[in-house]
Amino acid sequence: MNVLILGNGGREHAFAHKISQSKKLENLFIAPGNAGTALCGTNVDISATDFEAIKELVWQKNIDMVVVGPEDPLVKGIYDFFKNDEVLKDIAIIGPSKAGAQLEGSKDFSKEFMIRHNIPTARYQTFTKDTLQEGLKFLETLSPPYVLKADGLAAGKGVVIPETLDEAKKELTEMLANAKFGNASAKVVIEEFLKGIELSVFVLTDGKHYKILPAAKDYKRIGEGDVGLNTGGMGAVSPVPFADAAFLKKVEERVAIPTLKGLQQENIIYKGFIFIGLMNCGGEPQVIEYNCRMGDPETEVVIPRIKTDLLELFEAVANENLHNIKLDIDERIATTVMLVSGGYPEDYEKNKIISGLDKTSDSIIFHAGTKLENDTVLTNGGRVIAITSFGNTMEEAIAKSMKNAEIISYDKKNYRKDIGQDLIALEKKINE
Ligand code: AMP
Ligand code: GLY
Repeated sequence: MNVLILGNGGREHAFAHKISQSKKLENLFIAPGNAGTALCGTNVDISATDFEAIKELVWQKNIDMVVVGPEDPLVKGIYDFFKNDEVLKDIAIIGPSKAGAQLEGSKDFSKEFMIRHNIPTARYQTFTKDTLQEGLKFLETLSPPYVLKADGLAAGKGVVIPETLDEAKKELTEMLANAKFGNASAKVVIEEFLKGIELSVFVLTDGKHYKILPAAKDYKRIGEGDVGLNTGGMGAVSPVPFADAAFLKKVEERVAIPTLKGLQQENIIYKGFIFIGLMNCGGEPQVIEYNCRMGDPETEVVIPRIKTDLLELFEAVANENLHNIKLDIDERIATTVMLVSGGYPEDYEKNKIISGLDKTSDSIIFHAGTKLENDTVLTNGGRVIAITSFGNTMEEAIAKSMKNAEIISYDKKNYRKDIGQDLIALEKKINE
């Protein structure tokens, strides 16, 4: 099979790494890819949202399957673009239709969807510029902190959680009246704050059948102890010790199955990943958000734990026979630690020489923001390298990732040294 992966992050390198091991693979292309994906296949310098250029590439290279990494092309309708094209319609797309991608593309749509299908989520209301006054009044009925979400895609920055009523009112006004997030905040969802521990569960579906993939927890804040600005994710672990079998059963019965049934009832085509962002509120799952793709850096711990041939799984997604595949999961613990550029998630410099990559051992090195120039690997983004390790205990896996985090070096390297430590402490407490 000839396969094209769209995207250029750690998630796409993790997909490329796994797919390159498939016995079904002939040729692998990644657009645009990074210095890591170049080790698994051929990078092609095309943007993941340039559908016409992608069409040309698919035609030229005789591609059989397109695996869509990020949300942008999905929300822009790449699935529909292929299926409505005489030449492309038989090519397998791993990712939902444009309607399905609205689960991520519109917070308002996803909240209404959850209400329609009785899926547990925080109480909410949606406001526009014309209903700003009602929005300000609604804030007065809630207790702090306040959760304000721009309806549309805002590069992961569209959720604001002010501590005081004054700040919340100011923020709502900024978002609605002053278009703080442009068109993405033309509508704003205000919802109740949920207290609990966050985790993500991933579902792979062919539209009729599904597989629940391993759960993961990511570390979103830039600073150790979960302080400071939100990032794309500074590290991740899988499995999640506080998500036991009883909790995951609730997630499957109350969230995953109703979500899939809801999509079917609404005739929404969905052949791909559903990322369910959850809060474990005293053992009860509440949905925080859906994403229409895998998470990054969650992919870097979830995909390495899947022992089943990934192309076999994806082929079953395309052919709607996912029920015939056995999903084999590595029981060990996987952790990933993200090396980032100094200054990230605010301004940072690029083009720093990365050294030490050939001196690492006992980990899988996934590239994120890197590029290859004259045989030298340079930094090319905020998140640079994800270091994934396995262990029979969390301590063992983390120790391997941390060892290699020291070995890899570039100017202004930064990373969190406390990834997984909260869970190690929690486990100790449970075992006491
Ligand atoms: P989202 O982009 O919807 O994932 O939101 C970003 C982050 O905001 C989430 O990962 C949570 O940490 C936090 N968050 C979102 N909604 C809520 C909520 N209702 N209660 C508490 N925290 C929330
Ligand atoms: N790590 C969170 C995300 O991919 O959205």
